[in-house]
Amino acid sequence: MNILLIGSGGREHALGWALRKSPRLGALYCAPGNGGIADIARCVDLDTADHGALIRFCAKKGIDLVVIGPEVPLVAGLADDLEAAGIKAFGPSAAAARLEGSKSFTKALCAANAIPTAASRVFANGEEARAYIAYKGAPIVLKADGLAAGKGVIVAMTDDEALAGIDRLTGGGFGAAADEIVIEEYLQGEEASFFALVDGETVLPLATAQDHKRVGDGDTGPNTGGMGACSPAPVMSEDLCRRTMDEIINPTVRAMAAAGTPFRGVLYAGLMITDAGPQLIEYNVRFGDPECQVLMMRLKSDLLGLLAAVAEGNLGRARAEWRDECALTIVMAANGYPGCYETGTPIRGLEEAGRPAFIEIFHAGTRREGRRLLAQGGRVLNVTALGSTVAEAQARARVAVERVDWPGGFSRRDIGWRAIERERKSGT
Ligand code: AMP
Ligand code: GLY
Repeated sequence: MNILLIGSGGREHALGWALRKSPRLGALYCAPGNGGIADIARCVDLDTADHGALIRFCAKKGIDLVVIGPEVPLVAGLADDLEAAGIKAFGPSAAAARLEGSKSFTKALCAANAIPTAASRVFANGEEARAYIAYKGAPIVLKADGLAAGKGVIVAMTDDEALAGIDRLTGGGFGAAADEIVIEEYLQGEEASFFALVDGETVLPLATAQDHKRVGDGDTGPNTGGMGACSPAPVMSEDLCRRTMDEIINPTVRAMAAAGTPFRGVLYAGLMITDAGPQLIEYNVRFGDPECQVLMMRLKSDLLGLLAAVAEGNLGRARAEWRDECALTIVMAANGYPGCYETGTPIRGLEEAGRPAFIEIFHAGTRREGRRLLAQGGRVLNVTALGSTVAEAQARARVAVERVDWPGGFSRRDIGWRAIERERKSGT
């Protein structure tokens, strides 16, 4: 099968790396790709917002399946336009991508199907939102309804922070994404992510992961796209996985199908594990970045077969097998990220750092210039390791990070700390 992968991050590098192992793979293209993806796929300089150009490319190259990595093209209806042109796509329709593209849509779906989530109200007006905050009081959580590249959520611990948050959301910086604001109850617990493939009807649970969104050690500082992740998430016991399937994923998939907008793709549930059980924080309609990198390290089954089964609607006979080992990825980001950062700084030493069989270095934001590799973006590298425990995977990844010669970047030193703490307590 000839595949076109859409995206340019570490997630897409990991997907391409896993697709490469498939005996069924013909040609692998990536639009637009990056400096690392160029080693495993033919990168094509296409504007992924130009669906017509993508369709023409697919026809010319005989593409059998388009694998859509990020949320923006999904919400923009790329899967619909490809399907209409007779090209198979992995990823949901725009109607089904509302599970990520509109928080108020998902909140309404949860309410109608008794799916556990934080109690919430939706406001189209700043004044009413302020009055509601005064009535409810902090801690409280504010969210822009639409896509905001992970920056549209404000967890306010005081009333003043909440009111300042309303000013930020209504200040114009979020555009139409903040036309509606969801205000919800603050949930307490440990966060974990749960991934499942869905072909419209059949659900195949994949695995669990935990990421770290704050930039600094100890989960401090501003939010980022994610500074690292590990899989599995030890907090997700078999019982909690079963409850997540029964109480959250299955009712969602049934409701989407019943509404005539079946979900096809990977459903990523961000969960808060509270005393009352798993609660849905949010849905994403794609693989997480960097969670995908740790999932791909652990996946033993043929990724291409799984993604094709989703696109063809016959997931019923598919199985996903996983390595027993844990995987952990450390994001190396450009100094200054998530604020202003420099691009174009040179990176060396990747071959040496990536030599052990248990290490894989995925590129999140790099480009080649002649023989040099340069940083291009905020999150630049994902140094990923396997280990018999999360602690061992972390130690191995940290050794590899030390071997990367990149003065222009930094990373967290404590990725996986919650999982490692649980391992210690349970004596693993
Ligand atoms: P989201 O983009 O919806 O995943 O939110 C970003 C982060 O905000 C989450 O990973 C949580 O850490 C936090 N968050 C979101 N909603 C809540 C909530 N209701 N209670 C506590 N924390 C939350
Ligand atoms: N790592 C969080 C996300 O992909 O949304």
